[in-house]
Amino acid sequence: MTDTSPIVRLRDIRLERGGRAILRDINLDVPRGQVVAVLGPSGSGKSTLLSALTGQLVPAAGTVEVLGRAVPRGERELLALRRGIGVLLQGNGLLTDLTAAENVGLPLRTHTELPEPVIRRLVLMKLHAVGLQAAADAYPRELSGGMARRVALARALALDPPLMIYDEPLTGLDPIASGVVMDLVRRLNDTLGLTSIVVTHHVHETLPVADQAIVIANGGIVFAGTPAELEASDDPFVRQFLKGEPDGPIAFDAAPRTPEAA
Ligand SMILES: Nc1ncnc2c1ncn2[C@@H]1O[C@H](COP(=O)(O)OP(=O)(O)O)[C@@H](O)[C@H]1O
Ligand SMILES: [Mg+2]
Repeated sequence: MTDTSPIVRLRDIRLERGGRAILRDINLDVPRGQVVAVLGPSGSGKSTLLSALTGQLVPAAGTVEVLGRAVPRGERELLALRRGIGVLLQGNGLLTDLTAAENVGLPLRTHTELPEPVIRRLVLMKLHAVGLQAAADAYPRELSGGMARRVALARALALDPPLMIYDEPLTGLDPIASGVVMDLVRRLNDTLGLTSIVVTHHVHETLPVADQAIVIANGGIVFAGTPAELEASDDPFVRQFLKGEPDGPIAFDAAPRTPEAA
């Protein structure tokens, strides 16, 4: 029987940082199998929203369900949940003194007791999935920005998580590498039967591969619908965001940012 329940379900969520509400009254269902784009200007709370999904940030109000259960509080249960979520954070987080293969193998060596030849096979399969099997023995400094991003993607896939979360996967990439990475996100989603949440302010690169889009601004969700509905929207928030205009109903970077939030 196929599971038709949403893979992520947020109900009346309120998220605070340093005692200040960043997001209020957030309701969101992410259906299984979809690529969902979470869009919004810098500082709008996109990364904050993701941290509620992984249990890093406990909501001040509301409920968060991921992979069919409420996000737990206990360390052990949280670790179990996080094994089911592949996370590609802003920047690649690759270890510079390890090869591509060693980086991808890290989660397998940390979280499983698989024998070394099996790990090696799995690593090559993951690198193959991102088109980089030939780069297995290269160090991150020997890779282009786009290749390094794909290695990080392969590492996020290492434990076969059903849910992938990408935080600004296109930062620092040129348009061609951006296209490659977004195509890969879509293709991996479909061939591996994943669900993908892509947080980004790169609207025009992301919308073509997304099934659904939400726009976050001024502490809430100002739009939820398909990419076509988003493009057709005449909501002033949405128009301003799509056109990237600093003057309008969205207050860009109104709040001071702390260095670690950058
Ligand atoms: N650890 C933190 N402590 C205090 N404020 C934070 C922290 N992280 C983020 N913020 C604030 O929360 C707001 C949303 O940040 P963030 O979720 O990183 O936005 P986005 O990912 O959309 O750029 C910003 O105003 C930021 O300054
Ligand atoms: Mg962010």
